[in-house]
Amino acid sequence: PLIPVILCGGSGTRLWPLSRASYPKQYWSLCGNENESLLQQTHKRLEGLPELEQPLLICHEEHRFIVAEQMREINIEPKEIILEPVGRNTAAAIAVAAIKATESGEDPQLLVLSADHEIRNVEEFQKSIAAGRIEAQKGKLITFGIIPTCAETGYGYIQAKEPIDHSNPKAVKINKFFEKPTQEKAEEFIANPCFSWNSGMFLFQASTILKELEKLAPKILKSCKSALQGELSDLDFLRLEKKAFSECPNLSIDIAVMEKTNLGTVLPLNAGWNDVGNWHSLWETASKDSNGNFSKGKVIIKRSKNCYFRSEHRLIVGLGVEDLILIETDDAVLVTNQKDAQSVKDIVNELEHKK
Ligand code: GDD
Ligand code: MG
Repeated sequence: PLIPVILCGGSGTRLWPLSRASYPKQYWSLCGNENESLLQQTHKRLEGLPELEQPLLICHEEHRFIVAEQMREINIEPKEIILEPVGRNTAAAIAVAAIKATESGEDPQLLVLSADHEIRNVEEFQKSIAAGRIEAQKGKLITFGIIPTCAETGYGYIQAKEPIDHSNPKAVKINKFFEKPTQEKAEEFIANPCFSWNSGMFLFQASTILKELEKLAPKILKSCKSALQGELSDLDFLRLEKKAFSECPNLSIDIAVMEKTNLGTVLPLNAGWNDVGNWHSLWETASKDSNGNFSKGKVIIKRSKNCYFRSEHRLIVGLGVEDLILIETDDAVLVTNQKDAQSVKDIVNELEHKK
């Protein structure tokens, strides 16, 4: 069996003002099918995979009704919606999923997915999953590697033992893993064909990741086990016990396990992957008019170039502007330009502090 483990705990601050703590980006439709949220698309692109079971979703407790409702809309009845009282990062979320998935004595394969990625070529994606399952069966920890297109410092980099051939994908053992390098390092990495970006999607037997967590991050495993022992069923949800879970170390799976394990294997993925990170990266992959403008909602654009306009309610008119990003929502409007889109996060942090 193959169980999707969908991580929904991110806050997506770089996509403010649409993405909010109360309604983060994974629950919005930001690209791809206009009628489906990123979370819904994450599940939909798995349809047709053999041995696919119902998903395990892990989210912040405040978002439980959004997740439940969005799954209902696409006729999915999750195996479990696990609620975190506080975010303890991806290692904890994955540990909880692995413990839960093996409860009945089975050893399913876990396909760990971020709820906020865009993947344009679903067929290619499914082929990679099929190839990954064979490797995972051999006790490997698979990570999907993307061809780097720039020296992005917001990603993890995987150095494989051999150069990666993205036209003929095959699994290669990982030599080293570097989470979020400096600009200088990133430049060095992208010049080397052994490197790929870490997509943040993983595939392994539940038993393999549990063994590695036991060895490399025993504290995380221990806290997660106690948080599950104190679990509370609440309607259709499973609540982790707050005290035990709060004590869990806050580490990403990349740092807790992938950087240290000997079982890491990278499988190249060439499927139009995009980490829907900020307004500029959304503009890059969006379908635009002949002047490079993207618009959604009530928008009129004249004599303008390379703009991203999104209106939730009011009419936006763009006249003779370039490289502008304008996001209109109920209570806030963002006006910035393409090159500053990354820094929106800093403004949100400042706003948080003023509260
Ligand atoms: N349930 C839960 N709880 N989910 C979480 C938590 C948490 O505490 N923290 C993060 N997530 C989810 C996010 O919603 C997202 O779907 C995924 O886990 C990855 O978390 P991010 O916070 O977006 O990580 P990142 O972007 O900094 O880095 C990761 O992804 C990159 C690719 O997008 C790393 O894996 C990098 O190596 C990778 O390149
Ligand atoms: Mg991310």
